[in-house]
Amino acid sequence: MNTSEVSTSRPTKRVLVLNYSQTGQLTEITKRIIAPLQQDAGIAVHVETLRPAKPFPFPWGFFSFLDAFPESAHMAPPPLQPLSLTGGEDFDLVILPYQVWFLAPSQPVMAFLKHPLAKKLLAGKPVVTVIACRNMWMLAQEKMKAMLRDCGARLLDNVALVDPSPTMASLWSTPFWLLSGKKDFLKFLPPAGVDAASIEAARRFGLALRDALHRDEERGSAPLLAGLKAADSNPHLLFSEKAATRSFFVWGKLLRAVGGPGQWRRYPFLVLYVMFLITLISTVVPVSLLIQSLTRPLLRRRFAALKQQFDLPSGSGTERMHLYEH
Ligand SMILES: Cc1cc2nc3c(=O)[nH]c(=O)nc-3n(C[C@H](O)[C@H](O)[C@H](O)COP(=O)(O)O)c2cc1C
Repeated sequence: MNTSEVSTSRPTKRVLVLNYSQTGQLTEITKRIIAPLQQDAGIAVHVETLRPAKPFPFPWGFFSFLDAFPESAHMAPPPLQPLSLTGGEDFDLVILPYQVWFLAPSQPVMAFLKHPLAKKLLAGKPVVTVIACRNMWMLAQEKMKAMLRDCGARLLDNVALVDPSPTMASLWSTPFWLLSGKKDFLKFLPPAGVDAASIEAARRFGLALRDALHRDEERGSAPLLAGLKAADSNPHLLFSEKAATRSFFVWGKLLRAVGGPGQWRRYPFLVLYVMFLITLISTVVPVSLLIQSLTRPLLRRRFAALKQQFDLPSGSGTERMHLYEH
């Protein structure tokens, strides 16, 4: 991604944008969002690309993919290459895009948030998180919120873009995409990833952020992206997310006790785990979705309350969409 400082006249607002993406999906979304900011002479955008000291592979190998879950679940990422930032910079707004890895923020983004510079850069700063993942992001965002709190940052907004295909389809198409590098590896399923129309339409968030910056709204505590369908959570996935998070944590502890990332001693346990995981995916997820669809009328209020909670802070309302749909 182009690291650019807009400098036609003296910019009055400075925006920090973090960038990491393996397939380019999250970078594409980020580009759409920041384009209106980069085109504005009053706004200077600094894009900081995160580079793990030892790059994660893409496409992933079968074992390297699985081997990433213990450190994801235990929030123990490997270090990044040195950042171009010093910590002395003073940003008005931080845009923090991230992908979800094993129901947690991806390890490179986690490594940034645990970097000593993050506290200096983020303390007191308004942050907009932007998630692009398969469709399970609710508990990852809870972890993200805790890390932002540790840095003293103020979370103003959350945008969440997901694969629109049914859960039972993307549960298969996503790993095949990540292992093959091809979105349509499984021809009988819809292609993996966030759809092109949603990526294109992410521009509305940049337009709204640009207007909010001109009105100094980032200094307040109200969301800047309300009414733009920023985060439309699906609380019916929460049960599966909780079950999988628990299993990643427990098995992750065992695997971390057996060896470090990449060590062959982990492999037999990873094979055992993948068998357990496939059983979980083909039993717990559909059964929990089925039970929930049967009990939906009884639990409508409970799910409505959960949805409202996980849609926060930006919400899933659409009342301002007409202003920015061009
Ligand atoms: C190791 C790994 C684990 C992942 N786990 C999840 C997950 O738990 N939930 C989810 O919705 N997506 C998950 N994904 C999909 C990513 O969030 C993301 O959509 C995909 O990797 C493309 O991201 P990119 O922008 O880095 O290319 C996972 C991807 C990887 C590589």
